[in-house]
Amino acid sequence: MFNFDLYLPTRLVFGKGRIDELPEITKSYGSKILLTYGGGSIKRSGIYDKIKELYKGAEIFELSGIEPNPRITSIRKGVEIAKKEKVDFILAVGGGSVLDASKNIAAGAFYDGDPWDLVLDASKIGKTLPLFSVLTLSATGSEYDNSGVITNEATHEKMPIFGNLWPVASICDPTYTFSVPANQTAAGAADIMSHTFESYIVNQGNTLTDGICEAMLRTVIKNAPVAIAEPDNYEARAELMMASSFGCCGLLNIGRESSPWVCHGLEHELSAFYDITHGVGLAILTPVWMRYSLNEHTAPRFANYGVNVFGLNPKDDVMSNAKKAIDLTADFFKKIGLPSKLSEVGIDDSHFEEMADHVRKIWFGDFKDAIRPLDREDLLNILKGA
Ligand code: NZQ
Ligand code: ZN
Repeated sequence: MFNFDLYLPTRLVFGKGRIDELPEITKSYGSKILLTYGGGSIKRSGIYDKIKELYKGAEIFELSGIEPNPRITSIRKGVEIAKKEKVDFILAVGGGSVLDASKNIAAGAFYDGDPWDLVLDASKIGKTLPLFSVLTLSATGSEYDNSGVITNEATHEKMPIFGNLWPVASICDPTYTFSVPANQTAAGAADIMSHTFESYIVNQGNTLTDGICEAMLRTVIKNAPVAIAEPDNYEARAELMMASSFGCCGLLNIGRESSPWVCHGLEHELSAFYDITHGVGLAILTPVWMRYSLNEHTAPRFANYGVNVFGLNPKDDVMSNAKKAIDLTADFFKKIGLPSKLSEVGIDDSHFEEMADHVRKIWFGDFKDAIRPLDREDLLNILKGA
């Protein structure tokens, strides 16, 4: 068992109708608000009007149009508004992209320079604006963590930002995800599962953390197909929303060495060049990475996953159970409508070399610590295999 720190300062305000409590929660922070959102889903679903009604007496400035795979150009606009209007706090309403962009804005508001500097060098992050979020898509866990992922379209880079970026509070109302379309629900499910695999398919296990990971995976495998078939099924949406929040907050990693998050490192490279949906890239890469990592040494870990998540027979041969578990993972992604080849999303091998070099340079984890240690050639083989 490794030593660990688990620091989760965000207040999760979970359940139907909890948005009504937001003005009370934000009361002591002031009344000049920067409201950030994406391409308009919050207007169609009525959340925008609800916020306007809840904050009738407040001064609200808006940054709309934050893109999926949020761009530094949008963040620069947000920082400009925050500085010019001297806002008291940010209210981010949307999925991971809106929340991530808002974290960079929160830090950029007190930084005398380009907010991209803060992505490149976290030590430049100082004071930050208080950030509140209203989550509308279950996937990234940004509502409950201290990181974001930002795209610089000019340099084809998509990179994580880490720092004192936890939201003060996040409203997680599962009914706000009823309108999420099937493809985004499926991509979100793949993202939550990938966050779990990145922590679970590793060299060291322990009973408690492995058990939490297995419960996360069973939760998504059970509820994602239900949410896709019945978009307004509250229980299914609620289970996915809870799983979203616990995927990226560090809980799944307690007591073991942190892993290099191989699929996330590679997926961000794909999104940087091709602007694909994060969860789609993960669904394509994950089974390829798993098959590539399977050998005599790693098989027990995959077999354990098969037994505890898919109910495979523990008495069966370890390697055969490991293979079955990986096949069942790929089948699940297909079943919920996700592609399984990069060619299906218009990606060929023309940038693989650049991607492998870039991820090795900028990624936080050393790929040698992966369950099967990976060098540049291995990363290229995984990309080519996808
Ligand atoms: O822009 P709007 O109109 O809101 O539409 C969005 C967007 O088109 C739509 N959507 C969101 N909520 C909806 C809805 N449509 C209907 N009804 C709703 N209730 O869904 C589309 C995708 O939204 P986006 O925010 O991009 O999705 P997601 O939450 O999956 O976020 C993906 C981003 O988060 C990063 C990813 O790399 C990607 O850039 N990640 C952030 C992490 C973090 N902060 O810890 C970790 C993750 O691993 C991930 O890398
Ligand atoms: Zn992710």
